[in-house]
Amino acid sequence: MGDAKKLHIKTYGCQMNVYDSERMAEALSVESLGAEGYEVTDRPEEADLILLNTCHIREKAAEKVYSDLGRLKPLRDAKPDLKVGVAGCVAQAEGAEIMARQPLVDLVVGPQTYHRLPAMLRQVAAGGTALDTEMPEEDKFVHLPKLRAPATRPTAFLTVQEGCDKFCAFCVVPYTRGAEVSRPAARLISEAEALIERGVREITLLGQNVNAYHGTGPDGATWSLARLVRRLAEIEGLARIRYTTSHPNDMDDDLIAAHGDCAKLMPYLHLPVQSGSDRILKAMNRKHGAAQYLDLVERLRAVRPDLALSGDFIVGFPGETDADFEATLSLVRQARYAAAYTFRYSPRPGTPAAERPEVPVEVATERLHRLQALIAEQQRAAQAAMVGREVEVLFEKPGRLPGQLVGKSEHLMAVHCDAPDEMQGRIARVRVTEAKANSLAAELVTV
Ligand code: SAH
Ligand code: SF4
Ligand code: F3S
Repeated sequence: MGDAKKLHIKTYGCQMNVYDSERMAEALSVESLGAEGYEVTDRPEEADLILLNTCHIREKAAEKVYSDLGRLKPLRDAKPDLKVGVAGCVAQAEGAEIMARQPLVDLVVGPQTYHRLPAMLRQVAAGGTALDTEMPEEDKFVHLPKLRAPATRPTAFLTVQEGCDKFCAFCVVPYTRGAEVSRPAARLISEAEALIERGVREITLLGQNVNAYHGTGPDGATWSLARLVRRLAEIEGLARIRYTTSHPNDMDDDLIAAHGDCAKLMPYLHLPVQSGSDRILKAMNRKHGAAQYLDLVERLRAVRPDLALSGDFIVGFPGETDADFEATLSLVRQARYAAAYTFRYSPRPGTPAAERPEVPVEVATERLHRLQALIAEQQRAAQAAMVGREVEVLFEKPGRLPGQLVGKSEHLMAVHCDAPDEMQGRIARVRVTEAKANSLAAELVTV
């Protein structure tokens, strides 16, 4: 085993990329490929193959890939046999451009064809380069090896849906990930069961538009996400279910109801709205207004009053005025977020919004800071409200201090707590003693 070649993967971007990186590592492992296989290393300098699994969502993310590639040059000089591959959304968007701009790249593979990596690597080993950014009809997951190794964490991702047909005016995802495709429910159920057998307790269902899920059920009918969640909840040993990222227009009545009556569905929802201005939402092609979003939040809280809400916001979208931005602040005040991600608009090649005149960068930056301050205040309030309460934590790993474990509460807040090591991977009741900047301190509740 010690002689196996070494693979280092660096992952950028969203959770779907995290999931894909794990699947690529599995596809290239010694278990899958025998003597040709790779063992994963977290040290790039000892790797024989380095894969960058990239993100194209904002300019900064895409440019980072090129600066990181440049930094691999000394490693290649020291080890001429080192192979370098670019996977993920930059690979899909730029294809052969990447090799033209950075000749040390041997291989470019898009998000829909990485099951073909072993064959591509044979091509590279023979002295060539390899490029595959097709969007084939075939389902890569059918061709990928089954998960085998025991889980290293009690939480896992499971991609149920991929791609997007919504074409928000700012977004590259419909181009990099392709059209919306849902995986068949039977496969997801058996993958979830396999994860539980490996020791997983919590599964986060992934999709660029996860609540648009409409997979074929084992009964031949089309299943919604709610139906899938309810079926997965029947799996013994699975304690917690989450899903991300959802779109407001795909929150159907049954999914809202599930938040009230499915005990394993956690009270946390990432529901991006992007802006609070109807004018900007229209220009973004979001196909919903601010009132519709707030109504949705109200209906969710009617069935689950303690729901922790999270969101994504873009500030400085082309045409955004002070009044539009004030409308965003007003929506945030009404929706009350437990957490949220805020981005300054970044024009992306090929998207409709990239053609429109930009808001001056100083204006956008000032708005970003104001929005971030408001959200930080809400986040602090949400954390502070937990102090003194008893909550359930799934312990994931050792904490920073000896004798400590850290995990997540049902509301997805990080919690650290003095606890014996054998509680790792288990769910425990704790009392929150203090709210810190980004986490809660707690003590075990002894029964
Ligand atoms: N599918 C999800 C999110 C996809 S991308 C959804 O529909 O909400 C994650 C987040 O990145 C988006 O919610 C958006 O807030 C942000 N984003 C996407 N494109 C962007 C761009 N061009 N500039 C700035 N932020 C962007
Ligand atoms: Fe991008 Fe909009 Fe699709 Fe989300 S719904 S992935 S923001 S195009
Ligand atoms: Fe980035 Fe692609 Fe995810 S662009 S956010 S890695 S879908």
